[in-house]
Amino acid sequence: MTKRWWRDAVVYQIYPRSYRDTNGDGVGDLRGITQSLDHLEWLGVDCLWLNPIMPSPNTDWGYDVSDYCDVHPELGTLDDFDELIREADRRGIRVLNDLVPNHTSDMHAWFKDARMSKDSKMRDRYVWADPKPDGSAPNNWMSQFGGPAWALDETTDQYYLHLFLPTQPDLNWWNDDVAVAFDEILRFWFDRGVAGFRLDVCHAVVKDKDLRDNPPATEDDPPQVRGRGQKSIYDMNRPEVHDVLRRWRRIARKYEPERLLVGETYVWDLQSLIAFYGKRNDELQLAMNIPFVHSRFDAGRLSTIVDNMESGLPRSGWPVWMGSNHDADRLATRWCDDDERKVRCALMMLLTLRGTPLLGYGDEIGLPNVTLTERQLRDPVGMRFWPAYPGRDPGRTPMQWKSGAGAGFTAPDVTPWLPFGHPSRCNIADQKSNPRSVLHLTRDLIALRREETDLRTGTYSHRASPDGTWVYNRGKRFVVALNMSDDVAKIPRVRGKVRVSTERDRDDSSFSGGLVLEPWEGVVVERP
Ligand code: GLC
Ligand code: CA
Repeated sequence: MTKRWWRDAVVYQIYPRSYRDTNGDGVGDLRGITQSLDHLEWLGVDCLWLNPIMPSPNTDWGYDVSDYCDVHPELGTLDDFDELIREADRRGIRVLNDLVPNHTSDMHAWFKDARMSKDSKMRDRYVWADPKPDGSAPNNWMSQFGGPAWALDETTDQYYLHLFLPTQPDLNWWNDDVAVAFDEILRFWFDRGVAGFRLDVCHAVVKDKDLRDNPPATEDDPPQVRGRGQKSIYDMNRPEVHDVLRRWRRIARKYEPERLLVGETYVWDLQSLIAFYGKRNDELQLAMNIPFVHSRFDAGRLSTIVDNMESGLPRSGWPVWMGSNHDADRLATRWCDDDERKVRCALMMLLTLRGTPLLGYGDEIGLPNVTLTERQLRDPVGMRFWPAYPGRDPGRTPMQWKSGAGAGFTAPDVTPWLPFGHPSRCNIADQKSNPRSVLHLTRDLIALRREETDLRTGTYSHRASPDGTWVYNRGKRFVVALNMSDDVAKIPRVRGKVRVSTERDRDDSSFSGGLVLEPWEGVVVERP
């Protein structure tokens, strides 16, 4: 076991409500994950990241936590969780939990107490402010989910801050009681055997002490910032957030092996992203690269993001790459327009870049987004912005284990909490019996990565290649060539043996004198 095991690992994200239902209520549960470990072991993943499993009123599906030290009853019990950890450990699989430190649920005992009076001992655990003289909100901050970030609480006639839903009041990280309480929460789960945390909106936990207005966006801001009309420099990305991350890392370091902190670092510029690794490698071990996920599936754009990360990140840092998650939908649809050739290229890219690959559940079979009707929506963001934006449900639908009613996710006569797509078109069982399937490609790429040190930790260097293609060396022995275009591409000066090709027809064949790639074809080549 290496000390920095996550550098060698492939991480697999599970949305627990949508993985496997064992008690016929249409909702996935922890036992369902435990029962799926054979699949995950067969696939070869090393680590699971579970979306929040803690008790929650589910106004934001687990991201509104009402108790940080328990399991949501629909998902199971702490005993079920312990069993999952034990069974996963037996197979060499680690488990990361999702931690939500930016806000609690309004049903959390702290907030229920805090809102009762200005003198509550819990009051200062949240961010309260008086209305402006005209009664309006204290400043111009906006909720990430639309509208103002402030809600007036009539009992005490003050506003409280919510960067997300009004049912998700923001914690006040200037209050040491909050920090101390979270130290305990971290230890609670670390002691139970979790390998680390994915830290929800961790770039935002600390707010400007003076609650200053955000300045307006300017023309040189990225489109996402311009779209919001203001730069989030006072409600997020404060310098003091780094103190909080250092504090958590100190706790993580007390464990053996060191616990992993993966941050949801929702920032658009590289310098801010890199800062989350800490000046002395003393903050996050992995910081999610948001521009990468949200990029188009375009060789020029993606390789520029990767090249910049490669040259900007200090040697002590390590990248993490993903194409799907529970907010951004599935790569099969968003990047690949449900074109299987593109899905194969995307998986080859993710599994051969230098950095930790993070696959979403279903990526291994190229599971597409599911189109929902308005009535089927469960995500508050989709309900608010429908039909302009259907929200995040299309990428949160149940795993498709086999064809037929229930899709192997739940009993045949049960209605799942979110609808299936087309299980007969895309499912684990059918792909498992077909060695040329996307599932086998994923598994073979993971296996190759395990086998070949160069593919895990070897250097990355971008080679010159025609437009629409992306070719890089990994270590001394490997070249990865991806044709991310609709035209046949000629890649000069590559020779060797194809270890894995996206369509599988060239596996183990040798070639010299240049490489010709079909549209949306990729190969991993071992040099002579
Ligand atoms: C993060 C989560 C998202 C959630 C939000 C509020 O962005 O990934 O799903 O809605 O935080 O907690
Ligand atoms: Ca269930």
